[in-house]
Amino acid sequence: MRVLGIETTCDETAASVVRMSGRGGGDVLSNEIMSQIAEHAAYGGVVPEIAARAHVEVIDRLVERALSRAGLRLADLDGVAAAAGPGLIGGVIVGLTFGKALALAAQKPFIAVNHLEAHALTARLTDAIEFPYLLLLVSGGHTQLISVRGVGDYRRLGTTIDDAVGEAFDKVAKMLGLPYPGGPQVEMQAASGDPQRFSFPRPMLRRPGADFSLSGLKTAVRLEAERIAPLRPGDVADICASFQAAVVDVIIDRIRHALKAFRQQEGDPSALVVAGGVAANGAIRRALSRFCGESGLLLVTPPPVLCTDNGAMIAWAGIERLRLGLTDGLDFAARPRWPLDADAERVHNGKA
Ligand code: KG4
Ligand code: ZN
Repeated sequence: MRVLGIETTCDETAASVVRMSGRGGGDVLSNEIMSQIAEHAAYGGVVPEIAARAHVEVIDRLVERALSRAGLRLADLDGVAAAAGPGLIGGVIVGLTFGKALALAAQKPFIAVNHLEAHALTARLTDAIEFPYLLLLVSGGHTQLISVRGVGDYRRLGTTIDDAVGEAFDKVAKMLGLPYPGGPQVEMQAASGDPQRFSFPRPMLRRPGADFSLSGLKTAVRLEAERIAPLRPGDVADICASFQAAVVDVIIDRIRHALKAFRQQEGDPSALVVAGGVAANGAIRRALSRFCGESGLLLVTPPPVLCTDNGAMIAWAGIERLRLGLTDGLDFAARPRWPLDADAERVHNGKA
């Protein structure tokens, strides 16, 4: 089974062909990506209109390249998958419409993929792990702990009540005058800083449940930076190291709580899976690996190119759905919001 996947929900245009392999996982035959970081950098964040236009400009070339690198023609595919949300609506419409048009022209099944589900299932592409597992999804837009019970079957154990982890990294970078995107910059600075110089708060630590809150930590960083201004290079490094240490402590504490809830509900998870751009952070990876070692838990961290937004994860989610007969009509509409666990979302918004 070979599926083309298209991703345009945020600031990367991506297209990939993935083939189901005999050992249970998948083979990535091509994985084309074009980042728009340079176009958004001047604004310190993603500008939706610029993103949508940039997707339009490159999507056809990118898909063509994904097919030719895979050595395939449209007719060789078993299906076309496109991310249908959640994300910036203008961009989502570009990839979704392009995917539908290809499926229609080639007379292939179409699969509308939830971007979050694609992140959640990537560990099965790379490591062929079994359900159920505990997922930590940490990106610029999302921070969630999810019990992944099967394709289309997710229970959210925790989420952030304010900023996403990647967003907190980006905002801290911005207030320290570091370029966008801030996560890698903060990590680089932290490498030469003193994580104990500032004792920043660890919001939610030891609180029941597995929710996150990061805005208090971000404010504490801002107040400290203002207090000791003007900042010397050593100060920036120490602030980054102390901030990152606080984030690591919060993440480990929240996972500990989520794991307890998981074990009560589902028994033992097959693994702890980490996905999303923040999973590229070395300090977080090391802490997770220590935690999993102590808890006797398998840790699965897909390689960074498959942790950040990419087309292969969309293609793989397409394969997972297609083999269960879960295809979609060409009238499937783009969804700016599309929670994995709709019940948890309603409870969280106080609407249940
Ligand atoms: O998954 P992703 O590529 O895009 C979405 O947000 O969906 O994640 C990007 C986020 C940004 O907030 C970026 O600052 C953060 O991931 N990030 C990092 C690191 N690399 C990327 N955060 C901390 N440390 C890193 N090394
Ligand atoms: Zn993402």
